[in-house]
Amino acid sequence: MNPPSHIIGKSLKRVDARGKTTGETKFLTDLNLDNMLHAAPVYSQIPYGQLLGIDISKAESDPDYIAFFSARDIPGENQVGVILADQPLIASETVRYIGDSVGILIAKTDEAAQRLAKLVEVYVKPFTPVLSIDESRDATENFIHASNLACEHQVKRGDPEAAFSLADHIIEARFETPFQEHYYLEPQACIAQRTSAGGIFIIGSIQCPFYVQKAVARALALPFSKIKIEQAPTGGAFGGKEDIPSETCTRAALAAFILKRPVKMVYGRIVDVQLTSKRHPFQMHYKVGVSSAGKLLAAEIQLEENAGAYATLSSVVSYRSAMQAMGPYVIDNISVKSKSYYTNLPPTGAFRGFGSPQAAFGHERMMDIIAATLKMDPVEFRLHNILKLDTKTLTGHHLKVSVGAEETLRTAVEASGWNSRSESTDPRWKTGYGVALIHYGNCLGAAGWFMDGSGVKIKIHRDGSIAVAFGLIEMGQGALTVVNQMTAEALGVEPSRITVLPTDTEQVPDSGPAVASRNVIMTGNAIRDAASKLLPVLKEAAAELLQCDLKEIKIERGLVTNSRNAGSLGFTELANYLYLSNRPMDVLGWWHVPELEYDAATGIGEAYFTYSYATHIAKVKVDTLTGLVKVAKIWASHDVGRALNPAGLEAQIEGGTVQGIGWALTENFKLDLGRVLTDNLTTYLLPTAMDVGEIESIIVEDPEPEGPWGAKGIGEPAIIPTAAAIANAVSHALGKPINRIPIIPEQILNKIGG
Ligand code: MOS
Repeated sequence: MNPPSHIIGKSLKRVDARGKTTGETKFLTDLNLDNMLHAAPVYSQIPYGQLLGIDISKAESDPDYIAFFSARDIPGENQVGVILADQPLIASETVRYIGDSVGILIAKTDEAAQRLAKLVEVYVKPFTPVLSIDESRDATENFIHASNLACEHQVKRGDPEAAFSLADHIIEARFETPFQEHYYLEPQACIAQRTSAGGIFIIGSIQCPFYVQKAVARALALPFSKIKIEQAPTGGAFGGKEDIPSETCTRAALAAFILKRPVKMVYGRIVDVQLTSKRHPFQMHYKVGVSSAGKLLAAEIQLEENAGAYATLSSVVSYRSAMQAMGPYVIDNISVKSKSYYTNLPPTGAFRGFGSPQAAFGHERMMDIIAATLKMDPVEFRLHNILKLDTKTLTGHHLKVSVGAEETLRTAVEASGWNSRSESTDPRWKTGYGVALIHYGNCLGAAGWFMDGSGVKIKIHRDGSIAVAFGLIEMGQGALTVVNQMTAEALGVEPSRITVLPTDTEQVPDSGPAVASRNVIMTGNAIRDAASKLLPVLKEAAAELLQCDLKEIKIERGLVTNSRNAGSLGFTELANYLYLSNRPMDVLGWWHVPELEYDAATGIGEAYFTYSYATHIAKVKVDTLTGLVKVAKIWASHDVGRALNPAGLEAQIEGGTVQGIGWALTENFKLDLGRVLTDNLTTYLLPTAMDVGEIESIIVEDPEPEGPWGAKGIGEPAIIPTAAAIANAVSHALGKPINRIPIIPEQILNKIGG
């Protein structure tokens, strides 16, 4: 199916490496326009209350003051919710978290904007804030929105009750996972300008340009056709620039529209951490029935998610965590309920995996707890239940292709020496090994199928150079390089001819959000579609030039040949002839995810069209004197369908694994009465190269026929199993269950003491 290629499967250098390492790449903060003003948010310092008034008199008298805009100034709808209409663009009656914006202050300089924003008095009559999932769920009055339940999803398949009655063991456990801050290195940033046609042009550090276009249209009551969003080079996002730019860009656009001057808004780090969305904390309850032989028979799972003040992407998180709640195992009798609850804490939205790392923590800790009950090796127990070809997922999706779960487990076990792993003999440092296995539904799934299409535009210039515009984005993951490679492969030209353009809403149709590990699949298939339209035109022109039948034309590595008489010409010459013969030089490519058979009422069916699989095995050392956990090594084996660029792929695996190590061990996100305490890198500890031990990436290729050249997604799978593998390893080292993260020294010492 996949003939050898000189481009696909090769570790081409990153096309953006030079610009980023030399400083030539201009990030948004480097950009300054004539006549530009600066905006800073004015936000509530009270977690929950009624907004009584705003006094700007102290700021107004400053010579650098320009304007202040509140909800009253919004010409369109005061609404910015990405999925649910529950979030005002600017709060006008109720504030629901510390950080809820009540206005923006515009000044002549960034320094002045930030200084003057602090002088604005915001009067709020405080209500008793709701600070936990338990308080939110149990509340009987004073709901944060119409109710405290933001959204819910479920799976009801088979007959769990009957299956539990047949089980030899019924095992229950509770798990907890915390907030996680994205900590992209570049904070939220944008510049909005009013166009001469009375529209808006925004350039910004943005993950989902089409979401921003929609948000601006709604709030400013402008047609989409008058709104152009361009993505600036983006220094990390991880889901955190999926929802927030709809707020920041639209607020800046409001000011720019009214003042008719460019308005720049860049969040400082502390503001960024206080105001923006995080990973959802989860509380999970698992009840699982098994036979003594080690077969999973029944499961009843409750997932509860802390949505914070506004839903943003909570419904995606609740859907995905429900669909994957029991992992890559065969289980025919299952009930999953996944519910997101509002609290007066920062909103939680999208973060690498959309609830998958949380659910993985639940199902993979559970698998180890069950294996221990059965006195079975954790790998052996998993093998009794693992998804294979011709089995069904927990939602009843019958898998017919590309199921690499077992191969990732086998390769990780082999590489790590799992079967000969030794117990520790050192009285102080305890060694432990832990395994975790996951599946990850690629793209938006049945719940988001209606918007799961993406496009590219390929334009051939008369000098033989080629420009590609795509609807998804580069946010650090290496998309520009792999888009270049896929285009070169599809057209049969050298990668050096190709320039991948910055994403711009005017270049391509609405391609949905750059999320859910869908970039390569969507864009790659759209490139193949575009190539299938371009190649006949190219070949027809080449046949004219080489005086042969177009079936005899081959285009490879930028060389156009005629197989009959061995005539040839260069691609540049062909491109020029395309122009001279009045042929179309550009084409749109489009691809959408195949239709899915799925029943939303029961959660039964094809929740996603295909799945990536992964196994992480962690080796840890636990210092029983200080409680410190050190990761010695992680073996990370990933079924990616096909590795398009192995070096880029390994970088994704390493990056995701490091982010998982941080979530598991060092990132201890703390709040006090709704205020984030850990708002800088002194108190919120990201792991450095010194903290992560060794990471060995293992690539498994079980091709997905619907994927471009067989490829599946890797962006999110990289982080999903890591924390569970570490918790399993620490539990193994101590002989005591670790059921919540972060595993900070206090937790270890309490375990040992207790
Ligand atoms: Mo991501 S959680 O797909 O932005």
